[in-house]
Amino acid sequence: MTDTFREDLLSGKVAFAAGASSGINLQVARRYAEAGAKLFMISRSDDKIQAAAQGLRDDGLEATGMACDVRDFGALMAAFSACRDKYGAIDIVLSGAAGNFLSPALGMSANAFKTVVDIDLLGTFNVFRASFEFLNAPGASLTAITAPQAVNAMPMQVHACAAKAGVNMVVKCLAMEWGPGGIRVNGVSPGPIGGTEGMERLAPNKEMAEASKGRIPLRDWGTKDDIADACLWLASDAANYVTGAIINVDGGVELGDAAMDLTKVEIRK
Ligand code: COA
Repeated sequence: MTDTFREDLLSGKVAFAAGASSGINLQVARRYAEAGAKLFMISRSDDKIQAAAQGLRDDGLEATGMACDVRDFGALMAAFSACRDKYGAIDIVLSGAAGNFLSPALGMSANAFKTVVDIDLLGTFNVFRASFEFLNAPGASLTAITAPQAVNAMPMQVHACAAKAGVNMVVKCLAMEWGPGGIRVNGVSPGPIGGTEGMERLAPNKEMAEASKGRIPLRDWGTKDDIADACLWLASDAANYVTGAIINVDGGVELGDAAMDLTKVEIRK
């Protein structure tokens, strides 16, 4: 994809991005703004979201930050209202706030499980549900950041697997209910993405990182740009007929463990 393709793709649109102070979500939010959208971004930490918004404005982009926890429905309604007051009805919504840590189920309290489910699953429902009355519909596009954990069971991640499985179903159910109103709802499932807090938590040393890459069909982690470009496409009119889809941008991770050494296999000629 060329930069020319990205330019003006979202010109005149209004985008709202949740969980956007850092990592994948910040890159997606930046891509929306680079493509011409006016951007309203939220995260739990006021300091972090204000710094992120300032960083985008320093690069000449239109961006406003506000502190808002996706677990707080009332605060979300206020944030969507502030976004519409400032920029107009909302065309694009990103739900990306997430929490994760590695822990066996027996090392996890009920509150630990609930905390991740509240951020990822309830948070996604809250963001999309709260957005509804502020959307520019028909034509609005909602995207959730999900994960291969939604489909692939993983040890030490019962909380994230359960939460992301729920996120996929929120996407599909809302796509069905809101499709007649011209609202598209999709998910993007990033595999391991380098330079993110998530991968620092899930593969905290070089050995774990290399082992992880060896199990991926494409044999490497992805980049934040890989996810941003998929989200840009979904937000644009180029994806006009796409709804209820979970787009895997994961190097093939969801296919399963691809650890194999074909040099040791005798291939019949
Ligand atoms: N192992 C086991 N339990 C853990 C844990 C770990 N590594 N980290 C947190 N918990 C438990 C806490 O002990 C607490 O349970 P308790 O009340 O029974 O003791 C519960 O989880 C909530 O923790 P708390 O720190 O109060 O929650 P928080 O809302 O401040 O933080 C988290 C949320 C726990 C998800 C935290 O990891 C976070 O802020 N993550 C955001 C960033 C992130 O994860 N990014 C990657 C996204 S893929």
